[in-house]
Amino acid sequence: MDLNDVKLVNLPKFLDDRGNLSFVEQLKHIPFEIKRSYWIYDVPGGQIRGGHAYLKNEEFIVALSGSFDVILDDGKQRQVFSLNRSYLGLYVPKGIWRQMQNFSTNSLALVLASTLFDKNDYIHDYEKYKIIQ
Ligand code: TYD
Repeated sequence: MDLNDVKLVNLPKFLDDRGNLSFVEQLKHIPFEIKRSYWIYDVPGGQIRGGHAYLKNEEFIVALSGSFDVILDDGKQRQVFSLNRSYLGLYVPKGIWRQMQNFSTNSLALVLASTLFDKNDYIHDYEKYKIIQ
């Protein structure tokens, strides 16, 4: 997989006087079945999350609140995606190196994942990552 397989997805949004509502459905807005959800919150200023790739896991990342940058790298190119809307999701296929940074105060990142947690699915060494690309 490479950066061409990454997709920014505009999720449905219902706006009315009572506020806004967005939703996401598996196999419709995201191309996988959701096996796991996790969220990242209370990130101290300046901290960097991620810094790894997954062998199998695919993810869909939404900035439910606040903003942060997702830096994606396929070993050849690097691209920064700034997420700052609750209706915008970033689909990250397997095999993409990723890092998350520039978290705003009180930001909340929701991540929907295609696999259950497996520490053996992680590649933590960027040089090793580049070799198997
Ligand atoms: P990690 O994947 O390193 O977070 P990030 O990519 O945001 O920097 O996960 C941090 C810790 O949480 C690590 O010890 C593994 C654990 N963890 C789980 O147990 N289950 C999960 O679903 C996730 C995402 C992490």
